[in-house]
Amino acid sequence: MSQQRVLITAGASGIGRAIAQAFVAKGARVFVCDIDEPALRAMADVLPGVHTAVCDISSRTAIEQMVPDAAERMGGIDVLVNNAGIPGPTAAVENFDPDAWERVMQINLTGTFNVTRVAIPYLKQSGAGVIINMSSVAGRFGYPNRSAYSTSKWGLIGFTKSLSIELGGDGIRVNALLPGATDGPRFQQVLQGRAAISGKTLEQVSADAMSSQSLKFLVDPNHIADLAVFLASDSGRSISGQALSIDGDMQHTST
Ligand SMILES: NC(=O)c1ccc[n+]([C@@H]2O[C@H](COP(=O)([O-])OP(=O)(O)OC[C@H]3O[C@@H](n4cnc5c(N)ncnc54)[C@H](O)[C@@H]3O)[C@@H](O)[C@H]2O)c1
Repeated sequence: MSQQRVLITAGASGIGRAIAQAFVAKGARVFVCDIDEPALRAMADVLPGVHTAVCDISSRTAIEQMVPDAAERMGGIDVLVNNAGIPGPTAAVENFDPDAWERVMQINLTGTFNVTRVAIPYLKQSGAGVIINMSSVAGRFGYPNRSAYSTSKWGLIGFTKSLSIELGGDGIRVNALLPGATDGPRFQQVLQGRAAISGKTLEQVSADAMSSQSLKFLVDPNHIADLAVFLASDSGRSISGQALSIDGDMQHTST
């Protein structure tokens, strides 16, 4: 584990940052890219030794520079965490801005494809490569008024399952994580979107969200990070092609 070289996309804040922190704690070499340069600098202050680079995951050209840069600065890539993903708007399909739809697909699906495509030769050289794709509970249920996000997160499951079969012979394992309602600013925005479109209060949509789970608390981003570290470890070496939920046992969509 101490030798693992880990590339995390969009890891300057939120879940990706928690994952970076967890791998650093295990002694891994970590490279984090993000679009937000001040957030990268703030992270590097707290986690010295982490390599950082500005990269917009919607740009194929930027990705084609960033991934080889990560490999060069870490001496290779063993673990790729495709964490980048934007929520997109909350709107019914008939009112959905088509440009916003394309932006969600460009980052959540095509960006993940491009980072992975360029990283695969390095992961093959690793001999024990691991890819973790950040899907969502929205990749397990339908999500009314979040069709772009949900479609992209279901798409990542297909990508994960196809890729695990393609790469198993190279000793590369590919899994998807499906976090549910996760503590942090992103989930608060989701609740505000639901409240605005349903006419319910923020308190009502929050209570609705918890009523759909058997565990009545938000997912801790550090627990998602722990799961990523476990999956990438030797203890996870028999696990590939899986869509792993971490969502407080969510039973249905909330609206
Ligand atoms: N937070 C949740 O409740 C939740 C639940 C399920 C799944 N997820 C998924 O987990 C992942 C991380 O979610 P989060 O809530 O931590 O994210 P977030 O909204 O906190 O953003 C994380 C980072 O993404 C960066 N980013 C945004 N656009 C980018 C781009 N084009 N290129 C590079 N970086 C970019 C931001 O600068 C930010 O630092 C996403 O894929 C998300 O869909 C989140």
